[in-house]
Amino acid sequence: MTDSWSQSPFLRACRREPVEYTPIWLMRQAGRYLPEYRATRAQVSGFLELCQTPELACEVTLQPLRRFPLDAAILFSDILTVPHAMGMELDFRDGEGPVFAKPLRHARDLQSLREPDPEQELRYVLDAVRLIRRELAPTIPLIGFAGSPWTLACYMIEGRGSRDFQHAKSWLYSDPETLTILLDRLVRSLILYLRGQAKAGVQALMLFDTWGGTLTTPAYEQFSLGPMAQIIASLRASPECRDLPIILFSKGGTLWLREMAATGANVLGLDWTVELDRARDLLGDTVAIQGNLDPMALFGSPPLLQAEIRRILAANGGRPGHIFNLGHGITPQTPIAAVELLVETVHNWSA
Ligand code: CP3
Repeated sequence: MTDSWSQSPFLRACRREPVEYTPIWLMRQAGRYLPEYRATRAQVSGFLELCQTPELACEVTLQPLRRFPLDAAILFSDILTVPHAMGMELDFRDGEGPVFAKPLRHARDLQSLREPDPEQELRYVLDAVRLIRRELAPTIPLIGFAGSPWTLACYMIEGRGSRDFQHAKSWLYSDPETLTILLDRLVRSLILYLRGQAKAGVQALMLFDTWGGTLTTPAYEQFSLGPMAQIIASLRASPECRDLPIILFSKGGTLWLREMAATGANVLGLDWTVELDRARDLLGDTVAIQGNLDPMALFGSPPLLQAEIRRILAANGGRPGHIFNLGHGITPQTPIAAVELLVETVHNWSA
């Protein structure tokens, strides 16, 4: 049973092997657009409790797979569990998103941050992985993930989401040394965390760099891509991760695809701004690609949604190494019928 997922279309596409149809999964596929998610969510007091209860995290991970013939599951958790485990008090407020009670504002604020042992402070995540791997069909790969150091630093310094990242970028432009110390700590914590997920049983790892695209090119290379490259190099050298595909997604990072590929990532996530044929021209066949339907296309008419899907499949032109996905996470109001149509259309038209 151990290897029954290795020939799955998802893992074959990660390895750029031919597949009988284009595999598809969706960023944020477990979430508020599903009534069964909202029902499970209502059983607990908050989002963090959902993440911290392995039975419920397992349940919501499996929910989208019961509804749609998706080709991979993604661990239900959040990127901000890591700063939380480092000692930062975290609250997810309805309608407001994540809030850290005491954002990092001075170099001295770093002193209280610990580097978590994943089997201690993040044991609930690894327990969820172990449980999901037992409950999930053995043919379906499970994707583990973490936020990129820069994206986590943005939330830790701002304390919440932001339009302009004034605080985080003030560090970058006034005290890059302290920012580097923070990023180094995140790199070390994330390596241990991702290795922990690999040991617990995931089949692929994804780095979510949601805010890399807010940087200048040199700042992206130094503060976002550099730390991610360190993580990837270290994972490659650790036995439990050596064979796992690594997916790198920098939202807004279309200009830097070649640099991203040079990190040794196996798959690059693409947002919706770039045409797949253009990405392929830039990249050659060095990496697989994942993407890139605009999540808002799911609010369109069925024929125009299908036209978008056809355009993306055509731009890939049948080349091996394409995993269909959205260009960013699915949103809470998305109609379920559109998701059904999407998954069915990708499978049928690519076959
Ligand atoms: O993809 C999946 O289905 C797996 C689960 C997952 C969640 N968050 C669940 C979640 C994953 C992979 C994430 C990653 C994540 N979290 C990112 C990177 C990807 C991206 O979307 O850019 C970021 C930036 C976060 C931080 C975060 N978590 C924000 C900004 C928010 C609030 C915004 C929102 O959509 O409400 C969250 C909360 C969150 N994480 C929810 C879910 C399902 C909604 C909370 C709820 O149910 O109350």
